[in-house]
Amino acid sequence: MINNFSSAVLKWYKENGRANLPWKNKDPYKIWISEIMLQQTQVKTVIPYYSKFIKKYPTLERLSTAKYDELMLLWSGLGYYRRLDNIYKSVRIIMNKHSGVFPNNYDDILSLPGIGRTTASAIYTFSEFGSKAILDGNVKRIILRFFNISKNIKKSYLEESLWSKSTLLTPLGKNTSNFIQGMMDIGSIICTR
Ligand code: ADE
Repeated sequence: MINNFSSAVLKWYKENGRANLPWKNKDPYKIWISEIMLQQTQVKTVIPYYSKFIKKYPTLERLSTAKYDELMLLWSGLGYYRRLDNIYKSVRIIMNKHSGVFPNNYDDILSLPGIGRTTASAIYTFSEFGSKAILDGNVKRIILRFFNISKNIKKSYLEESLWSKSTLLTPLGKNTSNFIQGMMDIGSIICTR
């Protein structure tokens, strides 16, 4: 069943997925910026902000020269400004601790401010550093419905159980990126709230 599940998601993604989103590349810096913007904001809204941001700061090195106020001008209107504080802090950490190169180690990525398990997995997998499952709102909803799981259990237990289901369903290897993106797309296009 698990194999059927991932094959079905991959097949759907190939035929219907949003393959030409502007952050569909393998540059961890750009993927990071997009994933932070996408944490609390819809794809449609993020696209113009992302494009402007990357046009002005195409590399981490360029971003490291930016003043906070300049970044705020680009972020203004996106909301959840703590995300920008975290980007600003992360740039300093990457410059000082990782010689200005975005880390390719999962735990190093996870330890940056504003990056939780799912965002770390997305950056790690989309950059092709390795393969990790995610558990965002979309994936949670799909798994809850697919397995008909009751939300009526202790929250921490539910969370762990959803993580293990997601890990079980996620094909690890060359298909992980497409599977993860497929789950996000199915969650926002078909299996909606
Ligand atoms: N939400 C978070 N990450 C996303 C991505 N890569 N594509 C679409 N929606 C997302």
